[in-house]
Amino acid sequence: MKARVLSGVQPTGNLHIGNYLGALKNWVKIQYDYESIFCIVDLHAITAYQKPEELRSNIHQLAALFIASGIDPKHSSILAQSSVPGHSELAWMFTCVTPLGWLERMTQFKAKSEGQEIIGDGILQYPVLMAADILLYQAKIVPVGDDQRQHLELTRDIAQRFNSLYGETFVIPETKLPLVGARVMGLDDPTAKMSKSATGAGHAIALLDDPSAIRKKIMRATTDSNPTVNFGNAGPGVVNLLSIHQAFTEWTDGQMRTHFEGMRYGDLKKTVAEAVVEGLAPIQAKYKEITADPGYVPSILKEGAARVSPIAQETVELTKKRMGLYSLA
Ligand code: TRP
Repeated sequence: MKARVLSGVQPTGNLHIGNYLGALKNWVKIQYDYESIFCIVDLHAITAYQKPEELRSNIHQLAALFIASGIDPKHSSILAQSSVPGHSELAWMFTCVTPLGWLERMTQFKAKSEGQEIIGDGILQYPVLMAADILLYQAKIVPVGDDQRQHLELTRDIAQRFNSLYGETFVIPETKLPLVGARVMGLDDPTAKMSKSATGAGHAIALLDDPSAIRKKIMRATTDSNPTVNFGNAGPGVVNLLSIHQAFTEWTDGQMRTHFEGMRYGDLKKTVAEAVVEGLAPIQAKYKEITADPGYVPSILKEGAARVSPIAQETVELTKKRMGLYSLA
């Protein structure tokens, strides 16, 4: 049996080339080596207020972008987290075995709650729900970025604590993050990771940006005071543009150097922009094709939920049984 891989993305903001090159592109590559589950984590999204209509349409858009990027819904399950009740059920059971101190220590919690007058309980519970996402399917491999490492470690701690209190129940997921993609930085500020929540117009390239928007953003990207590309001494903005190009084209380091060393920044930007336009064209075409039928994406989400539900139900039943909770099954 193939090992199970699970990852999640929040249906908030616009998916951008950082999400694609850093995560999705790798998921596409490895999906057939595993039993793959890709979860649109709408329950995590509501830890911050979401306009209901917007949230629902973001869920559909994200599912469509997964498919357009190459996730094969015939093989991989794509589902909305809230459509499988086991995520919430397991999260509560985990809440009850998780020491408060573990949650208060999370760097993401500290960052999100700092200076806030009102701190939603959901912000604190966020990683418990993430643990439930993973352990509900007994997933072994969790391809996430380095910023999620602490949450993954907490998931292991919760699983171990549960297992020691109630007996072996959960598979402990691996901590190694096997799929490091490109780390894409903001175009306007190459010292910060490209982010969905950053508001600057020139910060990120969304997967659905049209060619003229892509060109405009890249032509305005921050570089440095050198006149031309110098591989030995390139500032973070130039490094970022080069790594975006390399991630799209999959050129070797040698090819990159031969092509770009000594190139003027204006020409570098033009070349990178064309690589991005070309790299996104098939994704955008596929997106257009699959969203032309408004019934298609909802049918995929339904199919995904139906495929994983038996696994979720089995885990929830087992967990309830271990804890002595009441079951009609
Ligand atoms: N917290 C993750 C992020 O912001 C999203 C996420 C939720 C997730 N549940 C998950 C990732 C389960 C991997 C597995 O990126």
